[in-house]
Amino acid sequence: MNTPEHDRLLIIDFGSQVTQLIARRLRELNVYCEIHPYQNVTDDFLTEFAPKAIIFSGGPDSVMREGSPRPPRKAYEMGVPILGICYGQQVMMQDLGGKVEAGEHATAEFGRAYVTPSETRSDLLSGWFMDGTGREQVWMSHGDHVSEIAPGFDVLGTSPGAPFAITADTERRFYAVQFHPEVHHTPNGKTLYQNFVQMAGFTGDWTMGAYREEAIRKIKEQVGDKRVICGLSGGVDSSVAAALLHDAIGDQLTCVFVDHGLLRLNEGEEVVAMFRDHMNLQVIHAQEQELFLGELDGVSDPETKRKIIGRLFIDVFQKYANEIEGAEFLAQGTLYPDVIESVSFSGGPSVTIKSHHNVGGLPEKMGLKLVEPLRELFKDEVRELGRELGLPDSFIGRHPFPGPGLAIRCPGEITREKLEILRKADAVYIDQIRKHGLYDEIWQAFVAILPVRTVGVMGDGRTYDYACALRAVTSVDGMTADYYPFSHDFLGETATRIINEVKGINRVTYDITSKPPGTIEWE
Ligand code: XMP
Repeated sequence: MNTPEHDRLLIIDFGSQVTQLIARRLRELNVYCEIHPYQNVTDDFLTEFAPKAIIFSGGPDSVMREGSPRPPRKAYEMGVPILGICYGQQVMMQDLGGKVEAGEHATAEFGRAYVTPSETRSDLLSGWFMDGTGREQVWMSHGDHVSEIAPGFDVLGTSPGAPFAITADTERRFYAVQFHPEVHHTPNGKTLYQNFVQMAGFTGDWTMGAYREEAIRKIKEQVGDKRVICGLSGGVDSSVAAALLHDAIGDQLTCVFVDHGLLRLNEGEEVVAMFRDHMNLQVIHAQEQELFLGELDGVSDPETKRKIIGRLFIDVFQKYANEIEGAEFLAQGTLYPDVIESVSFSGGPSVTIKSHHNVGGLPEKMGLKLVEPLRELFKDEVRELGRELGLPDSFIGRHPFPGPGLAIRCPGEITREKLEILRKADAVYIDQIRKHGLYDEIWQAFVAILPVRTVGVMGDGRTYDYACALRAVTSVDGMTADYYPFSHDFLGETATRIINEVKGINRVTYDITSKPPGTIEWE
């Protein structure tokens, strides 16, 4: 989906680990931006994209190396402001006649550094150096450094290891910094981006209200009077996609919600009630618990479980979708981080830790065209759009829940009895977390039921019941995670409640593994 109605900023990606954060900071400033790998940014691309400003990202290469990544010359000739960051600064300096030196000696800097202002002032730094210390903390991460700035540039700020920490050619509106303003360790970095986009003339026209109107128009244009199928998972992304599509095309949309018998307590009914009864969407509630649980019977290997669920999910989805006459489109809640084509310098394929449950390949198999109305959004923008569309906060703020559901929270063989116990224990745990006001602080929390029975004593009697593990993590994106530091009081109270309220569990443990080396789920 193109968005030419907005002022657009282009981020040319030279492979930095934190390029996505630049986009995050800009979106927070209501600026529409896209990340494109430098290899794709040709003269024609630039003409078509018509950016109002350009940012060169950081990157791991050295500009001293022949064949190292470059922007096209045309980027400098478009008359638009450019901001170069780290490697982006070095590229800009070298391209425009300055010098860069390898950082073998004492000039490499990694980590916290402090920048002080030079004589020359610029609006780029308005709001900086205001806290009385006369300096700003920044995050440096560079080996090479600029040793001679390009003609036309002035120095705006220096740090002990970077005499050219902030440079600017005010006439051409080219700015370049040696540090990373997008990371949290540069506390005032957002102000720098704000100044840059303001100087470039952005009006901050990227809001979810505006996005909603535009997306609706585009969906109508794409779909016409054809029918669309949308798989509802109960998660935020597919829910927001469905609500948006329903706003656009009403009853031309049919949702399929596959209940595989591995959902949480009352989850299936709640999702269907919300979409069907409150929001008037057409929802097919595919009650396929028997099929899934039947095929999973006796299976304890985690990968086999995942593969069975993935395969059945596709079969079932296809079966129900085939019944919807005249469907030509399949809607998916794909987000922007999934579509950013990042620059890979390692090249090699990464190992599969877990085969994720997804419906990739389904559209081709079914001969359907894709509608992906969230392709341009980050997760928090999706949440905002969800609010805009009237989805309740309690729903939008939900913790992520994996496609294979409780199957991967039930190590060993899955039985109906264990699932029942797990559902109840999970409900008590989440209730505790909500009551203590911790739900939004935690990225994801759940119970896993362990494949062991342990001996206990309740009243005067011996018990021989399952042990369970509580899991709660903080995370930004699920890629890495830390266990949540609950108080002992909280843990004790929760263990007591679970043992008293859930028949079948007589022992509660707390999982204090971070990721890595653990994963968030148990399988
Ligand atoms: P792991 O366990 O890999 O989980 O650390 C990271 C995040 O991904 C979720 N997860 C999945 N989500 N299909 C999904 O849609 C899956 O197959 C799947 N496996 C794990 C997990 O809940 C956590 O949020």
